[in-house]
Amino acid sequence: MALMSLMRDARGRAFGTHPTSRTRARGSEGLHGRIDIDDAEIRFDLDTGPLVAVKRVSLTILSGEFVCFLGPSGCGKSTLLNAVAGFLRPTVGRLLLDGKPIERPGPDRGMVFQQHSLFPWKSVLRNVMFGPLMAGHSALEAESTARTLLDMVGLTAFAHAYPATLSGGMQQRVGIARALANYPTVLLMDEPFGALDAQTRSMMQESLLELWHEFKITVLFVTHDIDEAVFLSDRVLVMSAAPGEIIADLRVDLQRPRTPDLLVSSEFNQLKRSCMELIRRESLVAFEQQSRRLAGRA
Ligand SMILES: Nc1ncnc2c1ncn2[C@@H]1O[C@H](COP(=O)(O)OP(=O)(O)OP(=O)(O)O)[C@@H](O)[C@H]1O
Ligand SMILES: [Mg+2]
Repeated sequence: MALMSLMRDARGRAFGTHPTSRTRARGSEGLHGRIDIDDAEIRFDLDTGPLVAVKRVSLTILSGEFVCFLGPSGCGKSTLLNAVAGFLRPTVGRLLLDGKPIERPGPDRGMVFQQHSLFPWKSVLRNVMFGPLMAGHSALEAESTARTLLDMVGLTAFAHAYPATLSGGMQQRVGIARALANYPTVLLMDEPFGALDAQTRSMMQESLLELWHEFKITVLFVTHDIDEAVFLSDRVLVMSAAPGEIIADLRVDLQRPRTPDLLVSSEFNQLKRSCMELIRRESLVAFEQQSRRLAGRA
């Protein structure tokens, strides 16, 4: 594996250069990280009967796109993300990564969860080295990659610390470094900043956009935060109340790089309002569904 070279940006932060980043153009066809979801339905067989978690979703996410999923609780966002990760298979339809059916998890997809899923008994460095080692790289290569990624997320000084001694934001940064350590073409993020305070969250969003820009990677990002979705993405996909379908595919043509002053612009607020109306309507449906279910049990 080619080792990443380092370059310094104007603010003096270190960035590793992904081996393919100089040759890949965002949103281009024929490159890596394209996802096709083709009429996919995901059902769970429960004791009470089948539960349709995701209903007939068809969509294409282009290589290098940043796409956010918004939708009421229980509408199937995590289920859809888990299917792209390869943790579960659709009952009907298919999911493709670069034209090939997704059948299992693979190093071409990195995942970051809401709560960190780091190994508590391993140091930060060893956590990030884990993926490259599993993929068959030597300890020297794995350590070099891990150190570069820790530098990118600003945690070089904590390489030998253990996860429990880090703040929530730092743990999530290690999680992102770990998810990127196998140079995936797709990064799947399930409410990764949901447990963070507003300031840390805002800084994490900007850091994530810098990493995304550097890696030219496809990102699927689940959130409940409308501001976050609009701030980060090229497209916001809104899901209906359960069973989840995509009910809106909103293009976000706000200028990049995105900076917090965008949050007060009229274009931003217009998009935010469109999302809020859709989410409010679907959340009311979800709320009624839950009330009916509770009444049925009483
Ligand atoms: N492994 C599973 N077995 C059975 N049912 C499941 C399983 N995983 C999810 N479900 C059900 O599928 C539906 C969708 O769940 P999912 O976790 O995808 O929702 P979500 O949109 O991510 O919700 P939230 O915003 O609360 O995280 C829910 O009714 C949930 O109970
Ligand atoms: Mg979820």
